Amino acid sequence: MTLSTAAVNRDLRLSELFEILPEESGVTDEGVLTIGGVRVTDLAQQYGTPLHIMDEVGLRRQMRRFVDGLQSRWPNSEVLFASKSLPIVAAYAIAAAEGMSIDVAGGGELQLALAAGVDPQRIHLHGNAKSDAELTMALDAGIGAIIVDNFDEIARLEELVTQPLHVLVRVIPGVDARTHASQATGGNNSKFGLPIDQATEAIARLNAHPLITCDGIHLHIGSQILEAEPFGEAVAKVAPIGEFPVYDVGGGLGVRYTYAEQPATVDEYLDAIVRSAKAHLPADAKILIEPGRSTVARAGVTLYTVNTVKHTGKTFVAVDGGLADQLDIALTSQRYEAIVANKLNEPWSETAQLVGRQCESGDLLVEDAPLAETERGDLIVMPVTGAYAYTMSNNYNGALKPAVVFVSNGTSRLAVRRETYADLLETQQVAIDQDWTAVPN
Ligand code: LLP
Repeated sequence: MTLSTAAVNRDLRLSELFEILPEESGVTDEGVLTIGGVRVTDLAQQYGTPLHIMDEVGLRRQMRRFVDGLQSRWPNSEVLFASKSLPIVAAYAIAAAEGMSIDVAGGGELQLALAAGVDPQRIHLHGNAKSDAELTMALDAGIGAIIVDNFDEIARLEELVTQPLHVLVRVIPGVDARTHASQATGGNNSKFGLPIDQATEAIARLNAHPLITCDGIHLHIGSQILEAEPFGEAVAKVAPIGEFPVYDVGGGLGVRYTYAEQPATVDEYLDAIVRSAKAHLPADAKILIEPGRSTVARAGVTLYTVNTVKHTGKTFVAVDGGLADQLDIALTSQRYEAIVANKLNEPWSETAQLVGRQCESGDLLVEDAPLAETERGDLIVMPVTGAYAYTMSNNYNGALKPAVVFVSNGTSRLAVRRETYADLLETQQVAIDQDWTAVPN
């Protein structure tokens, strides 16, 4: 049988699309996208939209690629899930079940990790401005290590610590990896960590305390870094600081958001780190990495309903979400792809501005998106939105934070319920209960 040109084009398009959709994606004969064996039309009906959908099988597989991949190259190693990329109880629990430890960036993430049942010994706390309350919370919980950022923090730890404590010192490696300015953290002007000379002083001071042991150093050069070499370079840069039992080289591996991007693979990334570690670090040192985005991004998509289509200067397809649940785009100008998820059999004949419903012209989800002809009620899927989307969702224009649902083997389970208007009003009940007609006397 010979396929028609249209069918061939469709299959080419789809094969490209399936490289950025969650691993467990498919399409029904009617052209409806499925994830984890569940039709997105059914998910929209059951849970509403906007909805974050996570492919649980693909997520677990990706986590294993990091854990097993590093283990096989450098057995004395640990992979920490950078939980800021998806700080939800289900993700903490899944990461722990797949052999990952957890990095938290503050008291809130620490609470979520503990609530998920993560062993405190496997939690590391980050932050350039930790409060006394957060340090106390971490000390009380008995977490595995605190990543110390500055001398003020050292002074407070020296006072607060009552039991043996392990720490790492965050070092600025002086590596400017190519990425968006908002995502670069390894250059000399970074607000995170200490330059090498100050880090050496910090390590000596920490080790002078009878209860504190500095196990080594931490670095993180940035996020959405598409090349592997900067990761190896950073290891080489910090090696001269000295020989330590632990080197935590952070996260930052980029992901493929668009058809055009070609990030390094997990294997290439791990090869770069381990090659450099073999050349520069003590053979018995422990190596830690902290991937966030690259573990969860591809496993997640965001599902929207089209609320309006209008043809003015351009064709505007407006969905029922926007930068309130997809803030990353406005912050980093990262380009994404989008599809009409109930019309995968139809040609992508339209070029549209895919926009959200928030009152910002910058609420542009995809500029000049090639879409199937779209009408009110259609479902839009934005692939590769598993990382930093739910994380940064907010209540701009009174938006309700979306639900998060995990799908696998034809079933779905809710991991975060959608916010309600009652949630929105709750923190302001104190105001509702007062009279605001004049200043109090
Ligand atoms: N470790 C540390 C100390 C970090 O600061 C970060 C991310 C990670 C690990 C994980 O990096 P990843 O593997 O996810 O690239 N909101 C921004 C991303 C900020 C990343 C912050 N730090 C965005 O949406 O692009």
